[in-house]
Amino acid sequence: MEYRDGEALECIDCGATHEPGGNMLVCVKCGGLLEVAYPRSVFRSVSFNGRGVWRYRSLLPKVERIVTLSEGDTPLVKAERLGKYLGLKNLYVKFEGANPTGSFKDRGMTVAVSIALKFNAKSVACASTGNTSASMSAYAARAGLRSLVFLPDGYVAPGKLLQAVAHGATIVRVRGNFDDALKTLLMHREELGVYVLNSVNPYRIEGQKTIAFEIWESLKSVPDFTVYPVGNAANISSGWKGFKELVEAGLAESKPRMIGVQAEGAAPIVKACLQNRETIEPVEKPETVATAIRIGKPLSWKKALRAIRDSRGTAVAVSDREILKAQVDLARMEGLFAEPAGAASVAGLEKLSKEGFFKGDETVVAVVTGHGLKDPSINIEPYAELVIHPGENPAEALRKLS
Ligand SMILES: Cc1ncc(COP(=O)(O)O)c(C=O)c1O
Ligand SMILES: [Zn+2]
Repeated sequence: MEYRDGEALECIDCGATHEPGGNMLVCVKCGGLLEVAYPRSVFRSVSFNGRGVWRYRSLLPKVERIVTLSEGDTPLVKAERLGKYLGLKNLYVKFEGANPTGSFKDRGMTVAVSIALKFNAKSVACASTGNTSASMSAYAARAGLRSLVFLPDGYVAPGKLLQAVAHGATIVRVRGNFDDALKTLLMHREELGVYVLNSVNPYRIEGQKTIAFEIWESLKSVPDFTVYPVGNAANISSGWKGFKELVEAGLAESKPRMIGVQAEGAAPIVKACLQNRETIEPVEKPETVATAIRIGKPLSWKKALRAIRDSRGTAVAVSDREILKAQVDLARMEGLFAEPAGAASVAGLEKLSKEGFFKGDETVVAVVTGHGLKDPSINIEPYAELVIHPGENPAEALRKLS
């Protein structure tokens, strides 16, 4: 079947393909998740030009007007000290906190908000643990669209809420958790007249898959492992799609093994993986200090389970203590400050390394998804502090301290 712009929306369950448009979020035949499918010819004529996410536009959906803040092109830092500590000779950190609004969400948003304009949307909306709303409201402001964000009351990091407010979003506080907020939005989206920009929207994944392209281009090869923090499970799914497309385009010969990391109090995907089950058991009351991944019913669980299984990867759950330790390790050994959810990938690596999962010479990339400045409510311990009066000698006070 021919589609207007070549690409179609394909159901991951029944395989039906649909003409993109309007407010289609799931398969009209079976309710399954959709993904953007490109014709074969696209993979035969790939060329990369320019910088950031749109460098890869030959592997992205066609849009008329690009809404961009120069997202992507984030640092891939060789983590020598952390690597030594973990017994990993080739450890890299992909620092997504360097995106314009401080998280990887900007990659998906530049594509999905550009698509919102193509579909003539006037208002966009999302339910969010914080970063999606921060990113969506920034891109909506840039595009001249209204934005509506549904937030779980009391569980959004202050920096993220401030961003949404600063960019002019209307805030809907839902007295429940993220899963409740999303359910409310999806139930009322028609009546609200909004284009939904949660990661159930397949165009978000398209932008986010560029993390894989950048890793491959920076390393000039595909790593053995990539490690992602997992909440709604869209990002790990998008990474896998990106790596698969590199192979399809004849650019790479192999794909990495995908490792998903969840917080112990919100780990339905880890549980399903480790118990070799086909479906997840939702967590009714998810809890973790890493509020960005405090999600009990991940939308993209099916895509993520496939990514982990098809890549012969694994999944690991980490405690809040392990997450906060990894946040400090990353900040003090490598100079990279991540929010707790962002550091969860490093926490997962610390745990797997201790368990002897790695040989030590593999190339491992930890995707660190969000900036530490997002969440100033976190207590970082331990830290050293001197209190002195004007005229006092700080060197003397320092000697006393040590
Ligand atoms: C900082 C951060 N890390 C990780 C995630 C999880 O990504 P995903 O929901 O795609 O699994 C999120 C999602 O909100 C996030 O904000
Ligand atoms: Zn279907």
